[in-house]
Amino acid sequence: MTDRTHHPALTTAQQAALTSGGDFWHTRALPEAGVEGIMLTDGPHGLRKQPEDGDALGIGSSEPSTCYPPACALGSSWDPALAERIGRAIALEAVAKNVSVVLGPGVNIKRSPLGGRNFEYLSEDPLLTARIGAALVNGVQSRGVGTSLKHFAVNNQETDRFRVSANVDERTLREIYLPAFEHIVTTARPTTVMAAYNTVNGVPAARNHWLLTELLRGEWGFDGVVVSDWGAVADRVASLAAGLDLEMPPSGREALVVAAVEDGSLDPAALDTAARRVLDLLARTAAARVPGGGYDEDEHHALAVAAAAQCAVLLKNDGGLLPLDPDGSARVAVVGEFARTPRFQGGGSSHVVPTRLESALDAIRATVTDPERIRFAPGFTLDGAADPALVAEAVEAVRAARHAVLFLGLPETHESEGYDRTDIDLPADQLALLDAVTTAAAACGTDVTVVLSNGAPVRLTPWQDRVGAVLEGWLLGQAGGTALARLLFGLDNPSGRLAETIPLRLEDNPSHLHFPGADGQVHYGEGLFVGYRYYDTLGVPVAHPFGHGLSYTTFGYDGLEVTPAGDNRFDVSFTVTNTGTRAGAEVAQLYVHERAPRLRRPEHELKGFAKVRLEPGESTRVTIALDERSFAHWSVRDHRWRVEGGEFELRIGASSRDVRLRAAVECAADGHRPVLTAESTVGDWLADPVGAQIIGAAMRAMADSVGIDTDDPLTAAMGASLPIGRIPAFVSSVTPEDIDRLVAAHREPTARG
Ligand code: BGC
Repeated sequence: MTDRTHHPALTTAQQAALTSGGDFWHTRALPEAGVEGIMLTDGPHGLRKQPEDGDALGIGSSEPSTCYPPACALGSSWDPALAERIGRAIALEAVAKNVSVVLGPGVNIKRSPLGGRNFEYLSEDPLLTARIGAALVNGVQSRGVGTSLKHFAVNNQETDRFRVSANVDERTLREIYLPAFEHIVTTARPTTVMAAYNTVNGVPAARNHWLLTELLRGEWGFDGVVVSDWGAVADRVASLAAGLDLEMPPSGREALVVAAVEDGSLDPAALDTAARRVLDLLARTAAARVPGGGYDEDEHHALAVAAAAQCAVLLKNDGGLLPLDPDGSARVAVVGEFARTPRFQGGGSSHVVPTRLESALDAIRATVTDPERIRFAPGFTLDGAADPALVAEAVEAVRAARHAVLFLGLPETHESEGYDRTDIDLPADQLALLDAVTTAAAACGTDVTVVLSNGAPVRLTPWQDRVGAVLEGWLLGQAGGTALARLLFGLDNPSGRLAETIPLRLEDNPSHLHFPGADGQVHYGEGLFVGYRYYDTLGVPVAHPFGHGLSYTTFGYDGLEVTPAGDNRFDVSFTVTNTGTRAGAEVAQLYVHERAPRLRRPEHELKGFAKVRLEPGESTRVTIALDERSFAHWSVRDHRWRVEGGEFELRIGASSRDVRLRAAVECAADGHRPVLTAESTVGDWLADPVGAQIIGAAMRAMADSVGIDTDDPLTAAMGASLPIGRIPAFVSSVTPEDIDRLVAAHREPTARG
């Protein structure tokens, strides 16, 4: 596509060098060929630019950059425009720091709440992940900086992460684990895709020809560089042959590549192509290396504040307890070390050294007119050691207050790249604090709000019923403190919605019996039924459903209209009205339910959404376009997307369990006809109109010849499962040649239409 013609001619050794990385963060420079080395740097929610000669050892040491809300929070914004703005800001910081490729976004699906890197991923739903991920890529790349879509693919756990084989059936791969990659590759054209550490169905992702070449390039048309996750390559030559262009960081094996070309075991064209793609990458990201780029740190911090305020999710708010009055005089006990020492991002390669860090405590004091109202008690320590004196102090503060706001969550050590969690509970010392505080609060009429900081869900039962309000802050980045204060005191109105279900118990999660596997294998036994696709299909009670989130205002929905817009396409329009008294934002969600699917399908699936901001009393018309894919399933028989035709229900709602409007639409069969063979059953043949015509007459003749009543339901049911090629074994008047003739008749172009 771009610049392919201007590349210098390189020797095999130079090509091997270019595709083998330069140092931990740079591609190889080839000064003799006029090729520069470029810098690649994490990551998804802010830059982690390590010293130019750095290595992975100092994970915490990098140049300060704005720490935007990590993916777990950004997913909850349901706001692609916001993600794009953040992407643009990250790119500006990249240009200022001479970074050419930002190693993100991470778009793997949250399969289990235990997944150690869930905080780096956006959602349990492929569509939401796809939309936010595409916006991030578009934002970063709009400034000429490259991205790395990761971790391709099926990277859903940290246990045995360099080797584990994620064993997933074909339909689940296509419907759950691949669509976000597919959407982003085909619509946003990321400059690089990062091959994951793990193995997919027995073949390591980093040398998986089907994944990296047939699917990614062949089917989706990817034209960028496939880069390895750092240290993902075990067999460099096999990886190159499979379609992995760039190994990072260098592992000192480029001589093996040269030798493989020389002894004929590696096609020189494979190396040549990989080297060209790396040169293309340099050309595509040239704008990132124009000197003199700068950015306004204050402006970027302001964006981090605005973003964080859109990500927090108000889970409950009994009796409109929140927002608190910033100008009132009622005393507020702010309890919990996280109010003073924010927990704002996860550990590992995405860790950013922020340009500044605001605590909720300072921000609350700055927000209220009279800071004397605020009394702080840490309540617990970050090391999790029980401290009765801290609990007693917190209880005393709560007794003296009208409102108690508890900042609880997961300490940093609980969530990091490199390991999975083993439970979803808050630490025991925090639960003990919660118990003591709620008991005291109940006795003296103090109301209690809990603010959570955690990268993946925590168990809310049994304590949720004992508090009045819960604000799920996820991990909000460097400006989370200010955003939380603004939300608690009503300067901003919560508009985040859950991008993942919060289960009642860990054991309710559909992957529970299969996670994280053992002996190098993890079986995705829950199949398609990930997150709400499971909970809603089986009606399993949850703490809070997918898509849920409250506001300080209320929204009404009406006027649903569905307009056909071509073959199995519809424009779905409806009106959302702010029926309350404050300005606020609603996330209208569109789920599609198939009424009588032939295959088992989830109860419904998210196929569109829109975040709308409305003044009190204001209405807006929302239109969501549904394409044919919105109704399709992946056919493992035909290895393609299929719509079989039938009735679908469109559900518009404020969560997957709060449906406000419904309409039925009829989809036509997509016109794709199956290939019928001698191994196709009588049922398969009869299900296809042309097949039915062809074998109908033959079947009747056969039945007559042996005296079978084909109208007898039992006979029909038994016969339906018989491959037609086996009929000669049961009916002596039918020969194998007769069967061949039927199969040939179906192959006739006239028959196949
Ligand atoms: C992570 C990637 C990251 C890379 C470079 C790996 O350990 O899995 O997400 O981009 O390191 O830091």
